[in-house]
Amino acid sequence: MSRREFPKGFRWGTATAAYQIEGAWQEDGKGESIWDRFSHTPGKIKNGDTGDVACDSYHRYRDDIALMKAMHLNSYRFSIAWTRIQPTGRGPVNQKGVDYYRRVIDALLDAGIRPFPTLFHWDLPQALEEAGGWPCRDTAGRFADYAEAVVRALGDRVPHWMIFNEPGVFTTCGYLLGVHAPGRRSLADFLHAVHVVNLAHGEAYRAIRATKPDAILGTAFSMSHCEPTSHREADVAAAERWHGFVNDLYLRPALRGEYPRIYREGSPESEMDVRPGDLERVRAPLDFIGVNLYFRTLVSDDPSDSKIGALPLNGGFGGNDGPKTEFGWEVWPDALHDMILRLTREYDRPVIEVTENGCSYSDGPDAKSMVHDERRIEFYRGYIDGVWRAIEKGADVRGYHAWSLMDNFEWAEGFAQRFGLTYVDFGSGRRTIKASGRWFGQVATENALNESPEPLRTR
Ligand code: FCB
Repeated sequence: MSRREFPKGFRWGTATAAYQIEGAWQEDGKGESIWDRFSHTPGKIKNGDTGDVACDSYHRYRDDIALMKAMHLNSYRFSIAWTRIQPTGRGPVNQKGVDYYRRVIDALLDAGIRPFPTLFHWDLPQALEEAGGWPCRDTAGRFADYAEAVVRALGDRVPHWMIFNEPGVFTTCGYLLGVHAPGRRSLADFLHAVHVVNLAHGEAYRAIRATKPDAILGTAFSMSHCEPTSHREADVAAAERWHGFVNDLYLRPALRGEYPRIYREGSPESEMDVRPGDLERVRAPLDFIGVNLYFRTLVSDDPSDSKIGALPLNGGFGGNDGPKTEFGWEVWPDALHDMILRLTREYDRPVIEVTENGCSYSDGPDAKSMVHDERRIEFYRGYIDGVWRAIEKGADVRGYHAWSLMDNFEWAEGFAQRFGLTYVDFGSGRRTIKASGRWFGQVATENALNESPEPLRTR
């Protein structure tokens, strides 16, 4: 491999989310979120872990920013906890919550790092869940009010915002499969939630624009390049329906004001309670598309199902050709390359930010406190090379964010899956940059992938 230079001004960063790192779950007026409630419910999270303390970033954010500086990064994707701003999801802002994020943002700016916040990374106020949650149309208006309040309070310092993180995952895991908060298992709730989230997306987009016309707005979508398991027409068609379901169910309404075709016949719109005028309201002409991608999806036709009728291999976590991470996700760098090129073709060469990409491996410190996580370096080398190849073929990608800055609370897996470029000792909170973090810092410094083996060594 020869040296791969990235375009001038390309951003290198890491991503985190409030509930996964902050802790301080009841401090300074913060209200209860569905993740506080869910993790405190016995049996929901592996080993009974909770995010009560997590990485304690609420108190240690300066240490976190020092890690980013040590890695020479210039962008930080983090999320705002709705319950710190509006403890019950409505009403006046809690000034202490705003002040916390202002401190974080100012410290980032001082360090020369772009603050790149997400307004919603899954932690819905529990009070709103009790009023109906995402399946309830009123939640869309609540969310737009919250989004506007945050941008009004912090928009003087921050031009770039993401509205949602992975609407596909929080609706599916939270309302259909019940494995994430709030733990509901209902097809009807899920289908309603999909549409209300799309309405909320459009409403929030317009509310932010009205407050701050020059805001640069996007959303981080969960994506996975879908490939048929054979050349059979039925499998090819199934892969397209699955693509509509996993990649386009929120993106197409936002950018085109329409739902993708995901059923063999007909459409789920009647089950989603789509009302006259709604397809105008879901529109949100985003300035950039955030891509969160970890693996590809191999899809076969499923004749036993008359609706989507598609069967993803391995539960949708990739094929069996590449190595697997400790989460069992297949490592397949072309997935990111192919997905970026598909978006480039289908949405008129949009601005793209890779907002998450990463892998879980549990390598920990050796006797010299070094973490030799070579598999993670190989993962990043492959996927980042995929981004470079996509740019060479014409994609307009502006930044790349590794998930994650540090090991953190991985939702239903608790602390069992480590995704960090930094190792966290959850007993003491101590942070140790892994070999992969040093290597990533080298890529960021050079704004290039180098084939030199030198970055493999820890400094
Ligand atoms: C994504 C989430 C993120 C993290 C990674 C591993 O789906 O957005 O919070 O958990 O997966």
